[in-house]
Amino acid sequence: MAAAAACRACSTSTGSLRDVSLLILLLLLLLVAPWRSEAAAAAAKAAGLSFTRQDFPRDFVFGSGTSAYQYEGAVDEDGRTPSVWDTFTHAGKMPDKSTGDRAADGYHKYKEDVKLMSDTGLEAYRFSISWSRLIPRGKGPVNPKGLEYYNNLINELVKRGIEVHVTLYHLDFPQDLEDEYHGWLSPRVVEDFTAFADVCFREFGDQVTHWTTLDEPNVMSIAAYDDGMFPPSRCSAPFGTNCTAGNSTVEPYVTAHNSILAHASVVRLYRDKYQATQKGVVGINVYSIWEYPFSSSSADIAATQRALDFIVGWILDPLVYGDYPEIMKKQAGSRIPSFSKEQSEFIRGSTDFIGFGQFINDSVNDLERVEYLSVYIASTLAALRNGVNVKGYFVWAFIDVFELLAGYNMRFGLHYVDVDDPMLPR
Ligand SMILES: *[C@@H]1O[C@H](CO)[C@@H](O)[C@H](O)[C@H]1NC(C)=O
Ligand SMILES: *[C@@H]1O[C@H](CO)[C@@H](O)[C@H](O)[C@H]1NC(C)=O
Ligand SMILES: *[C@@H]1O[C@H](CO)[C@@H](O)[C@H](O)[C@H]1NC(C)=O
Repeated sequence: MAAAAACRACSTSTGSLRDVSLLILLLLLLLVAPWRSEAAAAAAKAAGLSFTRQDFPRDFVFGSGTSAYQYEGAVDEDGRTPSVWDTFTHAGKMPDKSTGDRAADGYHKYKEDVKLMSDTGLEAYRFSISWSRLIPRGKGPVNPKGLEYYNNLINELVKRGIEVHVTLYHLDFPQDLEDEYHGWLSPRVVEDFTAFADVCFREFGDQVTHWTTLDEPNVMSIAAYDDGMFPPSRCSAPFGTNCTAGNSTVEPYVTAHNSILAHASVVRLYRDKYQATQKGVVGINVYSIWEYPFSSSSADIAATQRALDFIVGWILDPLVYGDYPEIMKKQAGSRIPSFSKEQSEFIRGSTDFIGFGQFINDSVNDLERVEYLSVYIASTLAALRNGVNVKGYFVWAFIDVFELLAGYNMRFGLHYVDVDDPMLPR
């Protein structure tokens, strides 16, 4: 998702969107067209940019992404079963009452889109796999049509020399498993998620360079179990409204805990069984923001650290140190589950990379987005030069998709999709 909480009503006229897509395209082309270095440098200067692709290391990767429910559409075709997002949107819970039934119709248009990526000069594409398309009902037999779709997509990317980055899970939990055991609230999710990952590694791993286990488990825990804005819409007053079930003071901690254990289990599987031959890497995406103290008072400095611990440290501390930040354990007390000594050993060090950064202020008009991207990328370059180990930058999203908080009223695509035209032209 592109964290959209700040913007419910920001719409943009489609004409300016097209212009802006061109500008962003130019920005991307400047970055990814090293063979035209002099022209690129001149164009960069003209566009007011202080950098070109050549300023970045060779192995730094510029990519863009989408996710299954937001991109594919074809929700009831070829054996796919519903995810919690289908249930949620069909209950009319989006502000614009939209659904992802067609989304950007990527299920049918992936070839055209991969060509567009190639024309754009993208070096890598990150997409997610719909669990309930690959394994209908969440566990059991693999759906041959699901296998075929993802194999076709991957082959198309490889054919055009685009690096394949796959996210195993992007918030679209199979509804059947949700009904069976309440999904991420149950430790049973660890086994089923690991089995799903095993199929993905086995079937696609020969061509995938980067695996992301989970997209933003901290966002899932907050949005789905604290304020109830994402499916399965669980919350309790006064922290959320209109939920029919849930417990906002406990459940977010439980779902994050199970997410961490599921992530670690999948990483262990990849490292033990696949990494030596497939030679990819496996990591996680964490929603991250950066806080600055309001003043130099020690109370403000402590508050800043506390906020970072609760948002980012919540997921990353366990993966790096094997346990939650002290302040979380202190404040949440018995509400936050604890890791056994064995689990702590199991999860510590269980990531090869961490996926950076998000749109923080989404109420940007699109010219600001161009500026945002150029400033963001320039800052990334500065961080690299300061010795930070940054390996790539992925723009959300490659084309306009169904946005998780806003339906089709918000657009982040590098390429515009005309959703008013039934053919969904790019
Ligand atoms: C909660 O439901 C009521 C009645 O349907 C609606 O008016 C209100 O906007 C809802 N609140 C939120 C935050 O969705
Ligand atoms: C949430 O769970 C805690 C711990 O079991 C309990 O004390 C609290 O009353 C529950 N809250 C709600 C709204 O059910
Ligand atoms: C977003 O950023 C713009 C430009 O910096 C600023 O004018 C606007 O107030 C910000 N909006 C929010 C919701 O933070």
